[in-house]
Amino acid sequence: MDLPQFLAELESLTAEAHAAFQAAADTAALEAARIEFLGAAKGRLKNAQKGLGAVAKDDKPAAGKRFNDVKTEIEGAFAAAQERVSSVGAAKREGPRFDPTLPGERLRLGRLHPITQTIEELKDIMGRLGFTPADGPEIEDEYHNFEALNIPAEHPARDPLDNFYLSVADGQSPVPGKSSSAPGQKPALTSRPLLLRSQTSTVQIRVMEKTQPPVRIISLGRVYRPDEADATHYPIFHQMEGLLIDRQVTMADLKSVLRMFATSYLGEDVHVRFRPSFFPFTEPSVEADMHWHDRWIEFGGAGMVDPNVLKAVGYDPEVYSGFAFGLGIERLCMRRHGITDIREFYRNDVRFLEQF
Ligand code: PHE
Repeated sequence: MDLPQFLAELESLTAEAHAAFQAAADTAALEAARIEFLGAAKGRLKNAQKGLGAVAKDDKPAAGKRFNDVKTEIEGAFAAAQERVSSVGAAKREGPRFDPTLPGERLRLGRLHPITQTIEELKDIMGRLGFTPADGPEIEDEYHNFEALNIPAEHPARDPLDNFYLSVADGQSPVPGKSSSAPGQKPALTSRPLLLRSQTSTVQIRVMEKTQPPVRIISLGRVYRPDEADATHYPIFHQMEGLLIDRQVTMADLKSVLRMFATSYLGEDVHVRFRPSFFPFTEPSVEADMHWHDRWIEFGGAGMVDPNVLKAVGYDPEVYSGFAFGLGIERLCMRRHGITDIREFYRNDVRFLEQF
């Protein structure tokens, strides 16, 4: 084969390859064209390369150079066509689908629920007064929710209508008075009806069972009572329980701690007043009120731990005494922020929640 003939063949091959690649409308058509022209075994370019061997020796350098140029050109044409039929190529041609000059979308950051925030703050305040956080289960047995707290079987607080009883083990009746255990005595595991704890005072018992005095703890968490929801009641709410046991603890200590707490939480000098009350697990018992913004606000129950409770956990009431208190966390948070309906906390309305 002479040089002009070889070059002419390369020329028409190039033109045909261009036309074929341009005509390919999709990846399948383009692939067929690729195999026809650039196929490694039987492609037409490969075929042309074989013709190179038939060119006269002196013409070989010129023929080889032209062949290499043509090969590069055809491969380039294929790459261009490939980009055209691919979606990436399509997107490139269309340009960006959004206007990059528009302001970005603002990320909506969540925040802690106001009750969680309050819990953190209360822990912080009480921590500075030397109280360590303690936890207890929300599903309790009657021993920890009632009996060890000196609440006998016939006490109205144990009424099934006033508690969320959960299950009855061993066919036992959940009705108070039918329990096989004597007050102050731990019943066998299998015969305990379970309930959602109605107060965090349960944690007093759980802590004292495991530790020796002195004790200085707080416990913050959910409690459950089957109350109709209204502006001041909700079947779930939170309490902060406090317990301090040591030698020679007096009610003056209780009042000082509550006053320091109230002053820290409300940020002003807050007066605390005690009104006589009754709780089976404290003696004497009081309702604690605090004076804030010209009003008396009731914020929970308190008292000196009843000797029967100390005995139930194996403490000697002749040696140790202590105080306990239980405050409603929602109530504290509501007063501080001027919230008038407890249900707001549980509606999950971001317009309410994002204010905290
Ligand atoms: N547990 C009591 C209640 O829920 C509050 C309380 C706690 C009272 C500790 C005295 C001592 O009403």
